[in-house]
Amino acid sequence: MERLKPKITVIGSINMDIVVEAERLPEQGETILGEKVHFIPGGKGANQAVAAARLGAETRMIGSLGNDEFGKSLRSSLMREHIDISGVKEVDQIHSGVASILLSKNDNRIIVIPGANAECVPADLEQKRELIQKAEIILLQLEIPLKTVEHAVRLAKAEQKKVVLNPAPAAKLSKEILSLIDFITPNRSELSLLTGQTITDEKDLEQAMSALIDLGPQHVVTTLGDQGAAFMDHHRKLMRIPGYRVSVVDTTGAGDAFNAAFAYSIATGHSLEEAVSFAVKVSALKVTKLGAQIGMPNWEEVERFQQST
Ligand code: RIB
Repeated sequence: MERLKPKITVIGSINMDIVVEAERLPEQGETILGEKVHFIPGGKGANQAVAAARLGAETRMIGSLGNDEFGKSLRSSLMREHIDISGVKEVDQIHSGVASILLSKNDNRIIVIPGANAECVPADLEQKRELIQKAEIILLQLEIPLKTVEHAVRLAKAEQKKVVLNPAPAAKLSKEILSLIDFITPNRSELSLLTGQTITDEKDLEQAMSALIDLGPQHVVTTLGDQGAAFMDHHRKLMRIPGYRVSVVDTTGAGDAFNAAFAYSIATGHSLEEAVSFAVKVSALKVTKLGAQIGMPNWEEVERFQQST
């Protein structure tokens, strides 16, 4: 794929990830000794912004940080990635978002304390509307208040922008909002929550994705971890892109890599199938490195991987 510079605006969370590595995860009520701790920039919004910027997108971000040490460090790491952070505000009296991540072998458990992310409000979007106007694609997740995400979707559509919504962490969404979404990218459990359907096999997956299309989005893309991804449009035919066998170091942020790469590819005029295929590659590369944000691949790495597969 040729390297282009599409304009992507991410509206979402910024966290400091406190990553604790241990041989195994503790049982309920148990204390164990771990091996390492890392303080790594994270947050689904910021991770997606960094991944998009590393692929070459002209990336802007709207979000909220606390006036604290984590906030300073998170701000500088976004700036180092050449992301326009004129839409990232600083709030007093509340700490920056933090994620506590337990990492063991190929598994992780995450608890997010939103902190300043909860202060990213609809009025911020009105104030920074030009950042929406400048974008080709608006990329959203659900780690900031739902009313802000809903406002962002409405504004983006009023400005005739394409909307990619990564519905993570899982939450119910209204039909009105779902019907304004161009691309929704749940994982299996998010798809299950959005549709109220249990998914155990391929047939369930197809039915649930079709049920989600009934609720309004134009396209549904379901991420399936190491099994790649499935996608569907209004023709209701389930299509699959298989995953890659890679040596897994850290799966944190794999979904973020996927969403950024998917948005990048759609913004550069690729088809749904091409975009899903590209996103599966980029997220496979992400899991070979530690850290959600620092582990995002750059364009050269993606090109090398594309040539080797
Ligand atoms: O998707 C991974 C991200 O989820 C982490 O970086 C953490 O901050 C949480 O937001």
